[in-house]
Amino acid sequence: MKNVLILASGKGSNFEAIIKYFKERSDINFKLLCNKKNAYVLKRAEKLNIEAYCLKFEDFSDFFKNRKFDLVVMAGFDRILDKKTIQNNKFINIHPSLLPKYKGLKAIEKTFVNHDTKGGITIHYANEKVDEGEIIYQKAIKINPKWSLRKIEKEIHKLEHHYYPRIIEKLLGLNILVVGFGAREHCIAEKISNSKYLDKLYLADSNDGFCDLGEKIIYNNYLELAQKAKEKNINLAIIGPEKYLCEGIVDIFKKFNIKTIGADKKTSKLESSKLYAKKIMKKYGIKTAPYVKINNKKNIEKYLSYFKNPVIKANGLASGKGVYINSDKNKVKNELFNFLSGKFLDASKNCLIEEKLFGYEVSLFSFWDGENLLNMPLCQDFKQNDDGLNTGGLASICPINIGIENEFKLNKFKNKLFNLLKKEKIKNPFILYSGLMITKDDIYVLEFNVRLGDPETQVLLNYIQNDWLSIFFAQANRMLNYTELKEKNKELTCIVMASKGYPLKSRKNIEISNIDFNNKNAKIYFSNVKRTNNKYYSMGGRVLSIVSEDKNLIYNILDNIEFEEKMYKKDVEIKQ
Ligand code: AMP
Ligand code: GLY
Repeated sequence: MKNVLILASGKGSNFEAIIKYFKERSDINFKLLCNKKNAYVLKRAEKLNIEAYCLKFEDFSDFFKNRKFDLVVMAGFDRILDKKTIQNNKFINIHPSLLPKYKGLKAIEKTFVNHDTKGGITIHYANEKVDEGEIIYQKAIKINPKWSLRKIEKEIHKLEHHYYPRIIEKLLGLNILVVGFGAREHCIAEKISNSKYLDKLYLADSNDGFCDLGEKIIYNNYLELAQKAKEKNINLAIIGPEKYLCEGIVDIFKKFNIKTIGADKKTSKLESSKLYAKKIMKKYGIKTAPYVKINNKKNIEKYLSYFKNPVIKANGLASGKGVYINSDKNKVKNELFNFLSGKFLDASKNCLIEEKLFGYEVSLFSFWDGENLLNMPLCQDFKQNDDGLNTGGLASICPINIGIENEFKLNKFKNKLFNLLKKEKIKNPFILYSGLMITKDDIYVLEFNVRLGDPETQVLLNYIQNDWLSIFFAQANRMLNYTELKEKNKELTCIVMASKGYPLKSRKNIEISNIDFNNKNAKIYFSNVKRTNNKYYSMGGRVLSIVSEDKNLIYNILDNIEFEEKMYKKDVEIKQ
């Protein structure tokens, strides 16, 4: 049980908003302490069935002497507590201005009287001084010159009621569920497990290489998973793989009122239908290769003749294998025939032929919270194996410097993404992954995905030094406006170790040994493995990935691993 004390002196609208926000949480015990016997907040407490104390302010320090709270929340409290009282508990305060502007009383009136064009709220740790202490979160709003004082108050209170409960939620410690089985999810789970805001980590479908990081939830279907997540008071579920998203896991979690990071079924179409993605790109003026749709084998020759260097793509999801590129037009023709004959079942019933683009590829991950877009530094992903076949990704590097001119074009592109997300009214927080081709003349989208990439996640999450749970929580709660990324000063590389036959067929149950887990300068993330009697065995194509600033170190560790089927990409260098 977590104990929270709310201090209030007035009407108590924040108090009520907080209590209502947490109404489904049986693991938090709220109490009210008020210093005014006629304050309306006491009536609200009675109505909401919250235990309340009303004391003269002089008796407050005595009240705190024998009590300890997980959090003390000042919500319209008009006095300052002494240093000693404050030191014994964690106190937070909300103030209706953008501090340090307008400390003290009547902040909203001052905003109004001074005809400010901007107002807002500040949530901060409280100390013994008026409206000081480390800022936790700020949110600004534009003020329309026509607004009355009443209207400004109303808008500011709206912000308070949305954001204050969420900050309280975060500071009380979060229960997080990570869903997915790959090295990407291993990396996400590792970052979450190191967060100071974590209470408990739960994992669904984790592989044996990282299941120890949290408590596993076993389930048969998404409905059951959502039910179990609800029982465990999950504050946030982070969904990794596209398959779950396209199958509608987020839509089910939404029904249970569980916050998720992940695209809902509708938004997932950006990834699950290349034709839909092309339409959206056109609508928002986003450059992409010219294409035609094809679903009739009779048209193969005719349509192929429209293209100089045709690339063929299955419209639907095909685990990264649904793209075929070959300079031999006959091979392209045959493969298109196979695609249309159902090579990927329904996913290749409709196909696209598009013009091949020339340049170098980068991956852009844009975190959307329903209102704000936070773009990550660029990554590069190495998809082709030594036989030229496309895989899910065999290596990655972060960051990628594309030069000033391209940066300029990239910024324009980011504005278009923002416009797209806003105009399409996408409310659910998710990660838009743009696979980009930087050509001599411009930046083109090769594909959209609606999730983090693997193995890009492994470099990106280690390159950004912020508390990652803080980023994900901000994303889930429309707070990304206040997230500033702290970048590492060194480039990171990730090399994937896979089984020889990947991406076609790979042998399973082959022991992997002599893995150097103790090297402080490298991180190891598992994908398709199982563990029996403390020994690791391969269970599929990609097996593990290693991240470090030092590429030689990665290769040394890989060289020393004993694994009969071992395969990894040599000489990984940034392509530009
Ligand atoms: P996609 O799944 O659409 O990203 O395609 C997978 C990979 O195929 C990309 O990462 C590129 O390497 C390559 N690719 C796809 N479309 C094109 C294109 N129009 N021109 C050149 N390469 C492409
Ligand atoms: N790295 C490619 C992907 O995650 O789809």
